[in-house]
Amino acid sequence: MTAPKKLFVKTYGCQMNVYDSERMAEVLGEQGYQPTDTAEDADMILLNTCHIREKAAEKVYSELGRLKGLKAENPDLKIGVTGCVAQAEGEEIMRRQPAVDLVVGPQSYHRLPQMEARVREGGKALDTDFPEEDKFDTLKRRPKAARAPSAFLTVQEGCDKFCAFCVVPYTRGAETSRPVARILEEARDLVERGVREVTLLGQNVNAYHGLGADGREQSLAALIWALNDIDGLERIRFTTSHPNDMTDDLIEAHGACEKLMPYLHLPVQSGSDKILKRMNRSHTSESYLRVIERIRAARPDILMSGDFIVGFPEETEEDFQATLDLIEEVKYGYAYSFKYSTRPGTPAAERTQVDAAEADERLQRIQALITRQQQDIQKAMVGRSARVLVEKPGREAGQMVGKSEYLHAVHIENSDAAVGDIVPVRIIGAKRNSLAAIRQE
Ligand code: 5AD
Ligand code: SF4
Repeated sequence: MTAPKKLFVKTYGCQMNVYDSERMAEVLGEQGYQPTDTAEDADMILLNTCHIREKAAEKVYSELGRLKGLKAENPDLKIGVTGCVAQAEGEEIMRRQPAVDLVVGPQSYHRLPQMEARVREGGKALDTDFPEEDKFDTLKRRPKAARAPSAFLTVQEGCDKFCAFCVVPYTRGAETSRPVARILEEARDLVERGVREVTLLGQNVNAYHGLGADGREQSLAALIWALNDIDGLERIRFTTSHPNDMTDDLIEAHGACEKLMPYLHLPVQSGSDKILKRMNRSHTSESYLRVIERIRAARPDILMSGDFIVGFPEETEEDFQATLDLIEEVKYGYAYSFKYSTRPGTPAAERTQVDAAEADERLQRIQALITRQQQDIQKAMVGRSARVLVEKPGREAGQMVGKSEYLHAVHIENSDAAVGDIVPVRIIGAKRNSLAAIRQE
């Protein structure tokens, strides 16, 4: 018997990449690969890349430069680039870094076994197609290994919105939804392996329209209600949503569906209607605020989260101020802000850029506001009850850590709770990035 080959996967970027990395490791597991945490002893290294912001491609090239050295020590080592940089750069990657054996875009991961065989024989393999066949059929979770209590489940991919700053419609392709039955099957399998919470993933998850058993398209709300019926599955979340796709049935589900958690990530990007228009967001700050109003009417305690871009081309101080005003109005439990970064091939890349120092200064101001808001909301949790899904032991003796329904990290002191338990607690303190709690009967 030969020793198992070792696979090292480095994941960049979003949760969908985390999900894809798991699936790739499983597919290659069938080719005899076992996961390893160190690049140095790997037979195959995959960089699962992200192209959304910053100098993503350059970072990948410099990482590849480092990995090339490992190949000098171990000539059998195979190096692959997957994910959105693979999709965007394609062949260019092998041209710029000949040490790379394999380049595969997100829509072709199910073809990895054939590609692996080709590179094992000393060839190169490149696939950045958008194939017709369903990659998830081949990528289904196979080994019946136990799982952590919280898992990602990709239900939708791609995006048809074409925001002027964003590469997703180009790297992930057109919007597609997986059929309901396949998602339910995967969710049941996860529950059998100890999962209690699933986060449904999609670049535009609330545009979900997968086929149901009756051959008709189903909404995300219908999918959530179907998942709600699975015994043993206790919590459902979804991300990321577009304001225009917050349909009535989804808003209602937030009020009525017990397993749907009171947390919603709903990016707005800017508070200025002029900028929103130039971003091709197809909503206004007012229509966004109205959506939130309706969600809060359905579920008053919902915790809102959002994404913001500062320094988008032609953003003035006044536009930026409108963003700060919107944040003040919404009050976000979590928010993520990014300095605009030019993505070649997107419409905004051609426009007059905001002065870099100015954009930096705006980023600092928006982050200060967001941090203050987050801290205020965390502090307001003190004294309140919550239910925590326990994920792992904490650093201190007797401590267990997990997530509240609002996705706050919570440390339960002196707890005998087990991983996977959902325990009622009372919040007794707020630290910078987490809450302290004691068990409540
Ligand atoms: N520059 C800066 N931020 C971006 N995002 C997407 N594209 C860009 C870009 N070109 C941000 C958006 C999105 C989040 C995932 O990343 O805020 O919601
Ligand atoms: Fe990108 Fe989201 Fe806009 Fe789609 S909706 S283009 S994924 S920012």
